[in-house]
Amino acid sequence: MKKAGKIIAVAGKGGVGKSTIAALLVRYLVKQKIGSVLAVDADPNSNLGDYLGFSPKQDIGRIIDEISKNINQVPVSMSKDEFISYRIETTLDEADGFDLLTLGRPEGSGCYCYANNVLRTVLLRFMSSYDYIVIDNEAGFEHLSRKTVKQIDALIIVSDNTGNGLKAARRTFELVNELQIKYKNIYLLVNKADVDSRKKIEFPAEVIGFTSNNMDLAGGINSNVTDLNENTTLIKETNEIFSLIFERSESCLKS
Ligand SMILES: Nc1ncnc2c1ncn2[C@@H]1O[C@H](COP(=O)(O)OP(=O)(O)O)[C@@H](O)[C@H]1O
Ligand SMILES: [Mg+2]
Repeated sequence: MKKAGKIIAVAGKGGVGKSTIAALLVRYLVKQKIGSVLAVDADPNSNLGDYLGFSPKQDIGRIIDEISKNINQVPVSMSKDEFISYRIETTLDEADGFDLLTLGRPEGSGCYCYANNVLRTVLLRFMSSYDYIVIDNEAGFEHLSRKTVKQIDALIIVSDNTGNGLKAARRTFELVNELQIKYKNIYLLVNKADVDSRKKIEFPAEVIGFTSNNMDLAGGINSNVTDLNENTTLIKETNEIFSLIFERSESCLKS
């Protein structure tokens, strides 16, 4: 059956908590049992799998390298690009309650751009196979450019609770619009913001909420969000934010 393929993308500068928020969203969707979930780690410096307690066995960079080094394995009936997409689809990582697509980092120079093109192609195909696609982005938005046919349902810009962080978030907002990335809803989420430090924020997009510092995650020793207890403040806060985002997204469809 063709799926709706709701896309939620997380963006922002490095270190603010993008991958953490993306992982928490995947955790939320899996627990809600509201449909199939594809988690996409589109940041070559990232580790969304680790954050979800899962070690990916495959990534796009590795598949490109492997096929490029041994081009004879491409069947005569397929182009190299088609074979790469086929290989990605048939070796996709299956975790507990969700699938994981990792961009990785191909070895050859100039390959990063190619890997991003491949990611875009397979994402377009996956859209009709999953109910929810959560994309943890790198800063440049290569794969979200306007060539992507389907628009993003919710784009979450993550910031930390500092002046510099919010300045960077504003630049991210501007970049998204300059690149004409298509989205239905765009939000700011202010992460690592304890209750007593929260102030009213002027931002060109809706401030969807604040999330607290979590002592188990702080320090970067263990970033696995599946280890967090359901009663943890951070989990309660993010669950509330995610349900608000999906509520908005539904009312948007009806209007
Ligand atoms: N709310 C939070 N409280 C405490 N630590 C956090 C929180 N969110 C993220 N972190 C930690 O901050 C570091 C950077 O987060 P990460 O999600 O990797 O950022 P990004 O993907 O934006 O580079 C990680 O060690 C992560 O565990
Ligand atoms: Mg990251």
